[in-house]
Amino acid sequence: MCLDVEDKELSFSNGSGAPASRRLRVAVAGLGVIGEGAALELAKEDIPYALCAALVRDPAKTRAVSLKTLRTYSDPAVMLVEHPDVVVDALPSGEAGRRLIEAALAQGVSIVTANKQAIAGALALLHKHAEQNHAVLAYSPSVGGGAPMVETVQRAREQGDPREIAAILNGTVNFILSAMKNGAAFGEAVKRAQDAGFAEPDPTADLSGEDARAKISILTYEAFGHEIDLDAIQVEPLTAERANSFVKGGGVWKQLAQISRRPDGEIAARVTFARVDDDPFFRKVEKEGNALRVANADGRAFTCEGKGAGRAPTVGSIFSDLEKIARLKPSRNIERPENSLRRSGFFN
Ligand SMILES: NC(=O)c1ccc[n+]([C@@H]2O[C@H](COP(=O)([O-])OP(=O)(O)OC[C@H]3O[C@@H](n4cnc5c(N)ncnc54)[C@H](OP(=O)(O)O)[C@@H]3O)[C@@H](O)[C@H]2O)c1
Repeated sequence: MCLDVEDKELSFSNGSGAPASRRLRVAVAGLGVIGEGAALELAKEDIPYALCAALVRDPAKTRAVSLKTLRTYSDPAVMLVEHPDVVVDALPSGEAGRRLIEAALAQGVSIVTANKQAIAGALALLHKHAEQNHAVLAYSPSVGGGAPMVETVQRAREQGDPREIAAILNGTVNFILSAMKNGAAFGEAVKRAQDAGFAEPDPTADLSGEDARAKISILTYEAFGHEIDLDAIQVEPLTAERANSFVKGGGVWKQLAQISRRPDGEIAARVTFARVDDDPFFRKVEKEGNALRVANADGRAFTCEGKGAGRAPTVGSIFSDLEKIARLKPSRNIERPENSLRRSGFFN
């Protein structure tokens, strides 16, 4: 449904105490598992957002009933003519996502992205573009699904000096390892993950470790304020042979993404498999679960866990980023934020 903000004015707080009188106009890029889930929520009445457009590969395709009148485009530049305040990037392609994000930010349009491949390795640059154009770049849904991993790392950084991060970041791989521990063969476990909507029809990015590589790189930026070269992250793929060896050897095996920073500042990151029988925090993470533990130099630990894949948790995370943007940045149809978003604390 394409809702007209002129017709449906609602009041919501912009965080400064002053009510904003227009709803944020939101465009959704990708109407697949995640994007359609977000669009269906955004199309509902009486919420502080107005769904104004969507970007898809094939605008002629039949969509869900409540999205029938939604204006759909295949060209990002044309979609941006709808003047969204925020674009939700739920595209499956990193390249298409990066092009969209750059085009939107250049026009001062804020971004909520679930597309880790679009931002991994480019966060410093994209944040700079966002700041220069008074826009917000938010990406909580790109890491951890429904688990607030970006926020947890930000909190650890606000409160001290993060030294070590360990995390289960790929729900599909964790689902496969859990299913095999319970007796499924490798192929059957992959199929179950696909049937449940966690693994894509082509699960290469999950199994190769590329998905976890992109996510750990994003967390590296959050923890230390600068990125690590993606090629410098050592990654072990999950093959049938490797997964079978875990079953044969016994114990609880997890794909763990780890980052450590030495006192001299050098950062090392890797995605490998580890036996976690002696680690109650990671041992209990089953199925598509994700979990994160940040250890600060003063010995304090910050943790979070949750469903790392699937429509509902990821859409929940999209809405939590939209709420932050709504608080910081009322609709551009009314006013432009005068304060730097970085000064407001959003990026810290
Ligand atoms: N699935 C999850 O559990 C999950 C969890 C967290 C994050 N993510 C991330 O969220 C993003 C979306 O994942 P998904 O599972 O929703 O993907 P998906 O179901 O494969 O998304 C397909 C949608 O994207 C559109 N599309 C594909 N390529 C496009 C292009 N070049 N230009 C415009 N539209 C294009 C398709 O258009 P048509 O409909 O016209 O074909 C379709 O609507 C990915 O980056 C993924 O990594 C997924």
